[in-house]
Amino acid sequence: MRLLTAAVTSIALALGAQAAVAAPVEIKFSHVVAENTPKGQMAIKFKELVDERLAGKVEVSVFPNSQLFGDNKVLEAMLLGDVQMAAPSLSKFQKYTKSLQIFDLPFLFKDMEAVEKFQQGPDGQKLLSSLKKKGLIGLGYLHNGMKQMSASNPLKVPSDASGKKFRIMTSDVLQAQFEAVDAVPLKKPFSEVFTLLQTQAIDGQENTWSNIYSKKFFEVQPYITETNHGVLDYLVVTSTEFWMSLDDDLRTEIQKALNDAIVYGNGIAAQKGDSDKQLIIDSKRSEVLTLTAEERQQWVEAMKPVWKKFEDEIGADLIKAAEAANN
Ligand code: LMR
Repeated sequence: MRLLTAAVTSIALALGAQAAVAAPVEIKFSHVVAENTPKGQMAIKFKELVDERLAGKVEVSVFPNSQLFGDNKVLEAMLLGDVQMAAPSLSKFQKYTKSLQIFDLPFLFKDMEAVEKFQQGPDGQKLLSSLKKKGLIGLGYLHNGMKQMSASNPLKVPSDASGKKFRIMTSDVLQAQFEAVDAVPLKKPFSEVFTLLQTQAIDGQENTWSNIYSKKFFEVQPYITETNHGVLDYLVVTSTEFWMSLDDDLRTEIQKALNDAIVYGNGIAAQKGDSDKQLIIDSKRSEVLTLTAEERQQWVEAMKPVWKKFEDEIGADLIKAAEAANN
């Protein structure tokens, strides 16, 4: 009898130990945009897919709207293990790598098709591991779209931006881009943009249609110029330490769920590029201006010298490869 009790106890202990080992892996996914955006929707889809396919093994919690961390803090938090996934804009990695600055060069990609071609090609794929030395891994690109410029005055030619204060993301390339038209760029967190515009502490900003719509920038900016002058896309990242701590099978399954969520998010991005622009036009709160070919050319000529300034940091060959994606 005593033997039997001992056997039962050891089985119970073993089961208990197994249960402890099998506690679900926690993934906190932090981002700064609203839920009704390509990134917001992608993160929700990722959570749903993980719930469906990896129930009990992995638990994803999504924190939108800078609830947990702003983009300027999230990568530090990731290296400390306080958050496991994020998808900052490609413009927010310059502290970790110079190569991703390529995505900020003004008028480099003619449209999102060219961006996709470059990202999925060999050079774009190589850039996913450009953060490795800093302890981060790029798991995939996610689209938002081409950027437009909004302001308190109509922007038709570069001199219209002269002396005006523009909020930018933390990127030296974007700083140089606005300095090239004699504007005053200010690096500010996304969470502060609406208030800065509303209080007229700044005159303008650049962003995608979905960000301008979902964060209501159009309600406090009387003019939006359809410039399509640059891209705002994301890199979904995690820390090497967290990623390598996962079992191979689990890592593969999480990556698959993420890939599927990215495909879904990219579909939303393509849709919202058009629909959010239309919602802004319909609101009549902001006038959407288009540029003639001659006006646009003036912006190109003013801003393109920025490429040369960053050519050594980014690499001339990489810039050529990105340009080739336009063909
Ligand atoms: C911004 O700061 O304007 C964007 O990076 C926000 C975002 O994540 O789309």
